[in-house]
Amino acid sequence: MTRRALVTGATAGIGNAFARELAKRGVDLVIVARTTERLETLAAELRSKHQVEVDVVTADLSTAAGVQAASNALTDTTRPVDLLVNNAGASLAGWFGTTDMADEDRQLDLLVRAPMHLMDAAIKSMAGRGGGQIINVSSVAAFTPRGVYSAHKAWLLNLSQWADIHYDDVNISVQALCPGFVRTEFHERGEMDVSDVPRWMWLKADYVVKTSLRDLERDKTVSIPSMRYKALAGLAQHLPRTLVTRVAKRGR
Ligand SMILES: NC(=O)c1ccc[n+]([C@@H]2O[C@H](COP(=O)([O-])OP(=O)(O)OC[C@H]3O[C@@H](n4cnc5c(N)ncnc54)[C@H](OP(=O)(O)O)[C@@H]3O)[C@@H](O)[C@H]2O)c1
Repeated sequence: MTRRALVTGATAGIGNAFARELAKRGVDLVIVARTTERLETLAAELRSKHQVEVDVVTADLSTAAGVQAASNALTDTTRPVDLLVNNAGASLAGWFGTTDMADEDRQLDLLVRAPMHLMDAAIKSMAGRGGGQIINVSSVAAFTPRGVYSAHKAWLLNLSQWADIHYDDVNISVQALCPGFVRTEFHERGEMDVSDVPRWMWLKADYVVKTSLRDLERDKTVSIPSMRYKALAGLAQHLPRTLVTRVAKRGR
C-alpha cells in the first residue's frame, strides 16, 4: 500500500493530476517543482480537502542542487517514500543542430540526469525497506526517432524496463508511462504549434494518471494510455525504421 509519494513537476499537467489523484486516495505527498507559490497553493488545497500530509520542495531539477534537494526527501528515513513519480519535464523549442548547447545540456539534466539520480536514491532507500514503486514518465515519442526529446524518453523507457526486472527480487516495481498528446501546459511552454493535431489524439491528464496507477497495480512495466496509442506504439515498433522516421519527421 502506498503511504507517501514524491511527485516531480506537480504544479501543472500530468504531475498535478498525479498529486490530486494520490491525495484523493489518502496518500501523503512530497511535491516538487520550481514555482513555490503554485506548490504551496496546491499543498494547502490537498491538505484541507483530503487530510493528507503534503511537503513542498522547491527545486530546479536541471541543477545538481535541485536534484539533491529532491533526493534528500527520498532518503529521509523518518518520512519514507513508497512511490516516486519522475514526471517533471519540458520540451526545447528548435531542432537539434540549431539549438544552443547550454539549453540542450539543461534538457539532458532535466529529462535524464534528474530521473536517474532520483531513481538511484529511491532504489537504495526502498531496497532496504522491503520494496516500493517508481513511475517514470516517458512518452510514446520513445518508440520513434523524433530528435533529442524522444531520445531522452527512449533512454528512460529502456532503463525502466531493465530496472523493473532487475529489482523485482527486492520488491521494487518500475513503470515507464508512455502517453501520447496530453492537454497540459507542455506544448505552449515549448512553443510547439499543435493546432493541426486531430482531436482524437488528445488525452486528458487525469485519464493518463488513472491508467498508469491501474497498470502499476497490475505490475505492467510499460503503460500506454488508450487503445489508439497502444496501436500506434505497436505499429512504430514493427514498421520499417525509415517509414516511421518519415512519419515522425515533424517531431523534435
Ligand atoms: N503533454 C504531453 O503531451 C506529454 C506527452 C508525453 C509525455 N509527456 C511528459 O509528461 C511530463 C509532464 O509534462 P506535462 O505535459 O504535464 O507538462 P507541463 O504541464 O508543462 O508541466 C510540467 C511540470 O514540470 C515542472 N518542471 C518543468 N521544468 C522543471 C525544472 N527544471 N525543475 C523542476 N520542475 C520542472 C513544471 O513546474 P514548474 O514550472 O513550476 O517548475 C510543471 O509542474 C514530462 O516529462 C513530459 O515530457 C507529456
